[in-house]
Amino acid sequence: MKTEQPPVIRLSDYTAPAFRIERTDLTFDLDPERTLVEARLDIARTDGDAQSLALDAEGMELLDLQLDGRALDAAEFRLDQDVLSIAEVPERFTLSAKVAIDPQSNTRLEGLYRSNGVFCTQCEAEGFRRIAPSIDRPDMLSRYRVTIRADKASCPVLLSNGNLVDSGDLEGGRHYAVWEDPFPKPSYLFALVAGDLAWIPDRFTTKSGRDVDLRIYVEHGNEARARYAMEALKRSMRWDEERFGLEYDLDIFNIVAVSDFNMGAMENKSLNVFNAKYILADPETATDADFAAIESIVGHEYFHNWTGNRITCRDWFQLSLKEGLTVFRDQEFTADMRSRPVKRIQDVRMLRARQFPEDAGPLAHPVRPDSYMEINNFYTATVYEKGAEVIRMLHALLGEEGFQKGMRRYIERHDGQAVTCDDFVAAMAGANDVDLDHFKLWYSQAGTPEVTAEGHYDGAAKTYSLSLTQRTPPTPGQAKKSPLMIPLSVALIDPEGGNQTLTLAGEDRGEETVLHLTQDRQTFTFENVPRAPKPSLNRGFSAPVRLTQPLARTDLAFLMAEDTDPFARWEAGQQYACDLLLEMIEAIGRGEAAEADPAFVEAMGRTLTNDDLDEAFRAQVMVLPSEEYIGEQMKTVDVDAIHAARETLKRAIADRLYDDLLAAYEGRRDNEPFAPTAEQAGRRALKNACLGLLVASGTADSAELARLQYDTANNMTDRMAAMALLTAYGLLRRR
Ligand code: SER
Ligand code: ZN
Repeated sequence: MKTEQPPVIRLSDYTAPAFRIERTDLTFDLDPERTLVEARLDIARTDGDAQSLALDAEGMELLDLQLDGRALDAAEFRLDQDVLSIAEVPERFTLSAKVAIDPQSNTRLEGLYRSNGVFCTQCEAEGFRRIAPSIDRPDMLSRYRVTIRADKASCPVLLSNGNLVDSGDLEGGRHYAVWEDPFPKPSYLFALVAGDLAWIPDRFTTKSGRDVDLRIYVEHGNEARARYAMEALKRSMRWDEERFGLEYDLDIFNIVAVSDFNMGAMENKSLNVFNAKYILADPETATDADFAAIESIVGHEYFHNWTGNRITCRDWFQLSLKEGLTVFRDQEFTADMRSRPVKRIQDVRMLRARQFPEDAGPLAHPVRPDSYMEINNFYTATVYEKGAEVIRMLHALLGEEGFQKGMRRYIERHDGQAVTCDDFVAAMAGANDVDLDHFKLWYSQAGTPEVTAEGHYDGAAKTYSLSLTQRTPPTPGQAKKSPLMIPLSVALIDPEGGNQTLTLAGEDRGEETVLHLTQDRQTFTFENVPRAPKPSLNRGFSAPVRLTQPLARTDLAFLMAEDTDPFARWEAGQQYACDLLLEMIEAIGRGEAAEADPAFVEAMGRTLTNDDLDEAFRAQVMVLPSEEYIGEQMKTVDVDAIHAARETLKRAIADRLYDDLLAAYEGRRDNEPFAPTAEQAGRRALKNACLGLLVASGTADSAELARLQYDTANNMTDRMAAMALLTAYGLLRRR
């Protein structure tokens, strides 16, 4: 039995590399089964003590090895256990290694492989070591020059990073292209694509006047389906200039869509590679959600150009440095392009569905892990999504202006470097002259904090005191937890509606403020509070915590209708619905009739007809918590009772609000020419939420509406929505 475990790699063991690869010159002779790669590496010693050089080299056949033009004999090097070591090397030298690799049989899709006849690479995290001998770590920044030779008929397109500096024909039906990337980069950002691909061209002029050639490469016949992604790319480029002041830095930007890809997409410098499902879309096959996902992922990969590529990670423990920050940036992009509250609701739903369970389970780990055996297992919801929440908390603490000041400091200080999460936080702290040492615990402490809140209004003293506690449950390897620095966005809602002005310890804090909860228990006392308010807490989900507060149904109904923060308003509605459904489920369990609370239905009706709220947001409010989510709140899950209670509540809403729902539906039924815009998507979402409730009412008319929508829809979103209802309620008509 083989019991050998891969070694544990620890953050605390980090040491800087002993050598620098200043230049990496690669030549590829592409062949499906036997590709020859020649790597010429200009290497300099950085640590005077280091005698021997160790290169990463996996799954390759070494054909030739030369040091400064002299072939090394077998006694001078060793290739063993994926490491190529050379016992003695001078201060500076050029190492040439010729190797053979087999892309065709590379089914791990790491390194160089073939997908549908297209040569393609994926090097993050440690795929480059399967292409050529190298020091394959993210803090090894090198300038690349890449020559690709291939059969011209099967590979008319030859791509790598940077600028195309030469190309031409060769003998035997082959041709070549030479690419040079002026920006030093780590090996994980190297990319090569070669094959018979079609492309769509476009152009983008940056704010300082640089003309950039944009291309999206796809399989022949798919050109038109890449149009939406191209528009999304241009929106991303513009947005990064406007919101972050960050401009594109080369004359070419290429995206390639391939059908086999391990990850969603990859941000290789100027040559992003995507899983085709995140590029290709048309109204016949893609829903509004698919279009939104394409926009967000195209943005994400583009935004990495600054947060990931120009400034990269010192080591893989710092993965969240680029991923958390870039997810935050893509979330903000979507929020600016579409409905901000809806984006926040969707992200929080995702966080609760995927990251909270991870943080509560056996695989819980900090945003910056301290050890790993296999880095590929750390591309997790914690590193990405909780990592983005950590950045968002910094944004809440510093405000947009302070945050952007910190970003500018970060980029000025670290452009062209491989850095750590500490460096990022230090730039934020330094630029704003604040102390973020306590805050940094979010990077190293795992687990979702539980926060409780209790408010007390003193009518005589005209004060409202808010008592908060925090506790983070133990996680594997971290039994003892310390209190975190939790930024809690708070407002006090006046009984007549609107925010009261906040005064804390004599200081005017405006209509909304961010409380810094730093201890296990803390009380904040607001002064000059004229009337008993309702607290609106963790507005916009300012901190990724589980918050409990004792709110009566009347409070929830009030907040559902009056909270000035749309996220908090949605949250109150969901909590109300959940309370109500759990009560109905209990009644069903006792064999009694489940009664819907008319106050809840009425609050929903007010949301439905409130034209001040955007349509996409109203659609979110009209959808009850999912059966899965309700199940998670129960000790013993009674699937039938959950379903029955939820249907009963839907029917109650539909019965009471039938006319409003019908009017809202009819008013949005115009079959305008389809466009995958945020505005139309919001309209469709609200329309389909109404249809869902109408059909739940069980009337023959509403079933007919669903059938008609299915038959006449000019887009996939409407057709799918109708189809789902017809199947769920057994209404499919035979013809
Ligand atoms: N670095 C890639 C991305 O974040 C792979 O996950 O898109
Ligand atoms: Zn990413």
